[in-house]
Amino acid sequence: MLTLDHLTKIYPARPGEFAGGIRDASIVLKPGAFFTLLGPSGCGKTTTLRCIAGLERPDEGRILVGDEVMFDGASGRSVPLHLRNIGMVFQSYAIWPHMSVFDNVSFPMRVSKARKYSTAEIRKAVGEALDSVGLGGYANRSATQLSGGQQQRVALARAVVHRPKLLLLDEPLSNLDASLREEMRVELKRLQRELGITAVYVTHDQSEALAMSDVIAVIDQGQVVQIGGPREVYFQPATEFVAGFVGHTNILHGTATGPADARGVVAVEVTGGGRVLCRAETPVSGEVAVSIRPENIRLAGEGEATGAAGNAIAGRVASASFLGSIVHYEVEPDQGSAVFRVEGGPGTPFEIGARVAMSFRPEDALALPRST
Ligand SMILES: Nc1ncnc2c1ncn2[C@@H]1O[C@H](COP(=O)(O)OP(=O)(O)OP(=O)(O)O)[C@@H](O)[C@H]1O
Ligand SMILES: [Mg+2]
Repeated sequence: MLTLDHLTKIYPARPGEFAGGIRDASIVLKPGAFFTLLGPSGCGKTTTLRCIAGLERPDEGRILVGDEVMFDGASGRSVPLHLRNIGMVFQSYAIWPHMSVFDNVSFPMRVSKARKYSTAEIRKAVGEALDSVGLGGYANRSATQLSGGQQQRVALARAVVHRPKLLLLDEPLSNLDASLREEMRVELKRLQRELGITAVYVTHDQSEALAMSDVIAVIDQGQVVQIGGPREVYFQPATEFVAGFVGHTNILHGTATGPADARGVVAVEVTGGGRVLCRAETPVSGEVAVSIRPENIRLAGEGEATGAAGNAIAGRVASASFLGSIVHYEVEPDQGSAVFRVEGGPGTPFEIGARVAMSFRPEDALALPRST
């Protein structure tokens, strides 16, 4: 449905600054996929989206929607934005306050150069679009009489009113408060599924990406570092950067003592002292990062058996926060300076200052290539 083939767009670097943009991005998306570009501020997410929309001219590569070539750097072909049949929603919802809801939503059809629509067609399409976002009776309201969440729904209705094949969303929920954001997540996903539309969604919020996406591309400084489903990027991060950016994790730096054994287990000498047995999904050697998720570390009191977990690190509880369903601990290890984040069950009894042993299985300690 959407193909990006070695898409590249680099902005000229200012002196002493990293040249922003997107480098050599490739992906093929199935129709109806919910695809998310995830990465920190400035990594190139909006740049990628603007290239797909036709708001920005790439330096190189190709963009296809279905079989149609929208951009080809080699031949110079570039379909202008109003002929790409794409719907867009931006971070600032940018609906026109002086217009009614009806006029806002019908706008793309009224100005369409690709096709002329009759008044009856427009009225029907606007009615359906407003129904689909739960604003059925709102057509004649002025846009200023709407709440933030309702305005964002109007922007969504406007983006889908002409039934585009592709919907581009650039941090569309970031202006909403936390509870409305979660509600809109679910609604947006439902709408996308109902319309069967392919969506490219931009966010720097990893929980939003995990909750909504079929496929996630994690971007670091203009480079796509991993493409995979939510579970894959969470459980099998490709690099230290992905492990740290997608969810919370503990990172230890160290040196692999040799290649992984037949079971994929490798021993790592931790910088600052100690040794841990790790799982290596890809071959690692030399300097490595070890990622251990907080929920995979077990705490035991001093002298208590740690079980046959494989790895044990002694330390002292530095903080304990009861959050209802879990207790969030910070544990200072006896060796090394990194403080561990550990999640315990609601019944775990450890208090600040308590001596504890942290234990974890080699399969839950992932040895990864270091990121710079
Ligand atoms: N028109 C431009 N000219 C020069 N540099 C630009 C231009 N637009 C973006 N950049 C640079 O390219 C990089 C990527 O920008 P982009 O807007 O794609 O980031 P982003 O991932 O969307 O970030 P955010 O999460 O903050 O929106 C940034 O370093 C930015 O400064
Ligand atoms: Mg952006």
